[in-house]
Amino acid sequence: MRKNIKGLVLITGTTSGIGLNTLKPLLRFGWEVIAVNRSNKRAITISKDFLTKDEIKNVHFIEMDLANLDDVRKACDEILERFQKPINSIICNAAVYKPRLKRPERSPQGFENSMAVNHFGHFLMINKLMENVLSSEREIVLNGKSTLFKPRITILGTVTANYSELGGRIPIPAPADLGDLSGFKNGFLSPISMANGKKFKPGKAYKDSKLCNMVTVQELSKRYPAEKIIVNSLYPGCIADTNLFRDTPWLFRVLFPIFQKFITGGYVSQRVAGERVAQVATHKEYAKSSVHWSWGNRQKTGRKAFAQKLSKRIIDTKTSQLTYDLTKKLVGLN
Ligand SMILES: NC(=O)c1ccc[n+]([C@@H]2O[C@H](COP(=O)([O-])OP(=O)(O)OC[C@H]3O[C@@H](n4cnc5c(N)ncnc54)[C@H](OP(=O)(O)O)[C@@H]3O)[C@@H](O)[C@H]2O)c1
Repeated sequence: MRKNIKGLVLITGTTSGIGLNTLKPLLRFGWEVIAVNRSNKRAITISKDFLTKDEIKNVHFIEMDLANLDDVRKACDEILERFQKPINSIICNAAVYKPRLKRPERSPQGFENSMAVNHFGHFLMINKLMENVLSSEREIVLNGKSTLFKPRITILGTVTANYSELGGRIPIPAPADLGDLSGFKNGFLSPISMANGKKFKPGKAYKDSKLCNMVTVQELSKRYPAEKIIVNSLYPGCIADTNLFRDTPWLFRVLFPIFQKFITGGYVSQRVAGERVAQVATHKEYAKSSVHWSWGNRQKTGRKAFAQKLSKRIIDTKTSQLTYDLTKKLVGLN
């Protein structure tokens, strides 16, 4: 066993919002970080503004456009070559949400783009790095202290993908639902743009991609036993003022944070959300596989995270197996 190995965590999407705000707590907990972004130049400039000189020394930057599967492969090869030690924890955070599109945007491989970025890119990345993560040291050093750590994968889920919660049943444009997955079965290329093969609904395409993220967590935790790796997801709360909402109407962008702060009480600051993500990905209390961690939809001071009940659409074994196998085929892993 190698000694004095500092913990290494990888996170996607650190140019803004939750990802950017997860960096500081990870560094404070003593981790070395691989920040994965589609533009290193932008990621480095933003990190320089946000982090101290000492903090940034412990961040490595890797360029990966999650929309492009060739790019994901290339970047994973670079990660495997460049780092002398395996990754202990992966955080899949990056996402796009474009609820106003009239027609689907297409990824370089021809897939509907939000599914490509949010689900396919992360799915391929996880699979390419899985062996590496599984081989990571169980004894690592964090802030000079030796710590036992089991490999972990954490994916950002959301309330709107969970039909068991009120937020998951909002009918505008429709709740997340993968249906019979005929869109995936039939190759998911134009004119197909939805997992269920039905008409394009941009807001639902985002929800479906997040549903796929949460289904992937369930399926990974069946395929890889909890003794080997912890796979979990979380809903950090409604961070109503991040760039995720940049493509919504301007009035929505003004009113949504106010609504979440003063009406629903669901608003969470970017700093608190980052803290939550960092904890779920690295702390002992969250070392439980297949759990979807939540702090609820109404934020209350001092509230602890709990295992959120998940809808049948997420935990149904047949659906999760099929989603996983079809995704494997679509991203070229068979
Ligand atoms: N905000 C919320 O209320 C909320 C609630 C529940 C869950 N979440 C989840 O939290 C995560 C972070 O969301 P956020 O609110 O922090 O959004 P955000 O501020 O828009 O951050 C998204 C990040 O993803 C990156 N990204 C987008 N497309 C990419 C691509 N093709 N390749 C690589 N990176 C890409 C963005 O980079 P660029 O700067 O290059 O675009 C950015 O760094 C998402 O998974 C979201 O679904 C958010």
